[in-house]
Amino acid sequence: MEKNNLKLAVQKKGRLSEKSLNLLRSCGIDIENYAERLLVTTKNFNLDLLFLRDDDIPEYVQDGVADIGIVGENVIYEKEKDVEVVKKLGFGKCKLMMAFPEGKTLDAVDEINGKIIATSYPKILGNFLNENNVKADIIQLSGSVEIAPSLGIADLICDIVSTGNTLKMNKLKKSFPIFNSEAVLIKSKKLSDDVVKSNILDELCSRIDSALTAKKSKYLMMNIPKNNLKTILEIIPSLKSPTVLPLADDNLVAIHAVIPNDTFWDINTLLKENGASGILLLPIDNMIV
Ligand code: PRP
Ligand code: ZN
Repeated sequence: MEKNNLKLAVQKKGRLSEKSLNLLRSCGIDIENYAERLLVTTKNFNLDLLFLRDDDIPEYVQDGVADIGIVGENVIYEKEKDVEVVKKLGFGKCKLMMAFPEGKTLDAVDEINGKIIATSYPKILGNFLNENNVKADIIQLSGSVEIAPSLGIADLICDIVSTGNTLKMNKLKKSFPIFNSEAVLIKSKKLSDDVVKSNILDELCSRIDSALTAKKSKYLMMNIPKNNLKTILEIIPSLKSPTVLPLADDNLVAIHAVIPNDTFWDINTLLKENGASGILLLPIDNMIV
């Protein structure tokens, strides 16, 4: 561990762990084998990684033990620690939802009245109940909330749902959501006193921005009949002016363009109708705009 390295807290084991590390990798940061280690120094960036329980991350960052952290908004709002949210990271999207055992129903909020709800999110749930003038008992559990109904200690649960697999495995069904969450980058308020670390954070943030922008775009390449150039340029929703290149065959030109991720299938048929061939769509690692 280097004294002047920026310390980043990430979830040790859970929904966000692998995706957090992948984001760092897409920023060009080498993370060596970290199995079972709580602290890892990255090789080519002034960054140390601390692997923690996600619930503990806001407090570590508040106290400055970690300078920054990657954690779900669900944990930030529940823990109410004094940290600054730097940016949303576009992954780890999930909902905090009410869920109930198969064979029962839960359609409206007022049906919760008088029920016992197990959750790891007593503050977010408590606020929701107050806002809706509902009275229910909250049982706080720090994990394995989903088994509470089958143990007979709760009627309902309020927990994070992402794919829905955990609910399904425990014979529970989701009802309405009470909070939407995604992964965010947080920073300690103590960090602004440290110029060296603040500069490392600025560099990290600009790499994250370029990785996130790249993820939203694809690189499109194709050959087209020269005569259709004007029509095809109008079809392509290019983020910048496309590149047009000559080919050995005088009747054809090649076009390269960066397009928004989700637009390709809308224009694919039109491109082919206008004579485009050899269409290639490639991922982009990084993009500096
Ligand atoms: C949440 C929740 C479930 C899981 C649901 O845990 O407690 O275990 O995600 O995901 P699924 O719908 O894809 O099955 P999370 O990783 O947020 O943290 P935790 O382990 O600290 O509860
Ligand atoms: Zn947790």
